[in-house]
Amino acid sequence: MNADIVIVGSGFFGLTIAERCANELGLNVVIIERRSHIGGNAYSETDLETGIEIHKYGAHLFHTSNQRVWEYVNRFTSFTNYQHKVYTNHKGVVYPMPINLGTINQFFSAAYTPNEARALIAEQAGELAGKDPENLNDKGISLIGRPLYEAFIKNYTGKQWQTDPKNLPASIISRLPVRYNYDNRYFSDTYEGLPTKGYTAWLEAMADNPKITIHTDTDFFDTTQPWNQEALVGKVPVVYTGPLDRYFNYSEGKLSWRTIDFETEHLEMGDFQGTSVMNYADAEVPYTRIIEPRHFHPERDYPSDKTVIMREFSRFAEAEDEPYYPINSNEDREALLRYREKAAQENGVLFGGRLGTYQYLDMHMAIGSALSAFDNKVRPHFENGAPIN
Ligand code: FAD
Ligand code: NA
Repeated sequence: MNADIVIVGSGFFGLTIAERCANELGLNVVIIERRSHIGGNAYSETDLETGIEIHKYGAHLFHTSNQRVWEYVNRFTSFTNYQHKVYTNHKGVVYPMPINLGTINQFFSAAYTPNEARALIAEQAGELAGKDPENLNDKGISLIGRPLYEAFIKNYTGKQWQTDPKNLPASIISRLPVRYNYDNRYFSDTYEGLPTKGYTAWLEAMADNPKITIHTDTDFFDTTQPWNQEALVGKVPVVYTGPLDRYFNYSEGKLSWRTIDFETEHLEMGDFQGTSVMNYADAEVPYTRIIEPRHFHPERDYPSDKTVIMREFSRFAEAEDEPYYPINSNEDREALLRYREKAAQENGVLFGGRLGTYQYLDMHMAIGSALSAFDNKVRPHFENGAPIN
């Protein structure tokens, strides 16, 4: 097929650009995708044993306050009225998260009013008053006081980073929200829900146009297949959503990421934990949380005698691992600046998405940034011959 534009990666960023190019501009779009399926990290599949929808690359909750993004995504899927809530297990007792008046009163076995709780936390946070926090521990204590910090934040964060919080920089957290009411809705966005027919149906609907051709199992850096970097760059406009450092063959160093290992278990019971996400706040439990995906869709007719759960283990990503969360160390930030300069000079290539820009993006942010890139770069390129990058 004759491609007007080639898109590397079929996550939300790449699919949004592809959909706009095909439907708005009538272009022939080729998407190449290294994995055997489309959708990037939002992809989900049906668990064969239980029929439950599994988020293969980690639990994905859709939420946004961006009106344009909300209207756009509703062209491809409807959403359930799911509202995300998270609980945490500390020393064998379950508390609501994020820290709210319910958490505080349960933790201190009290019935504090909002003002009483506020005064108590302010007093406890004053322990290190006047000192500049040198590490994550001191920072946490200065934000919410030692008791709550040590119970709910310290060891959970330590597990996420596989590092004692004494040795983590204070900059990892800038604020720790405490709600002085009983609201434990996790997100406070205008719109929230899960795609009624699942993520993959949504992702497929975006690509449902004869002008879009997708080649899965195809790596942009594999010169034995025709849709590769050497063959294409400079000849056809490219939107690249793979890892930024890989594009330049790691010339400025490797950008570092955290990854997650998932341990999946099937259980002969209808309900393991009564909710979709249970965090484990203590150091003795090696995993950070357990996901039970059946609870993302209480409206579905799932079996009442079996369920599936995933334990999550967080660690630093090695070369072969899925990159999930940018670490953003000082070295990373310096290398990123050099890569950005190179990307700006790479004629005919638009870098986008979470891997292509080395930043954590929620789905609504990836889609919103793709809609902007389409307006500001892609459309002007095809309509007026402006550079695409
Ligand atoms: P991706 O989805 O990563 O897509 C990039 C694609 O490029 C991938 O399919 C990849 O295989 C492909 N690719 C890479 N290199 C090549 C190559 N050389 N050749 C061909 N193809 C290549 N967002 C939310 O809004 N809510 C959540 O609850 C949420 N939870 C998350 C949980 C986890 C564990 C993670 C990691 C992310 C979560 N996100 C969540 C973020 C969400 O996954 C991203 O917003 C979204 O994936 C971004 O889309 P993207 O297109 O930028 O990148
Ligand atoms: Na998530």
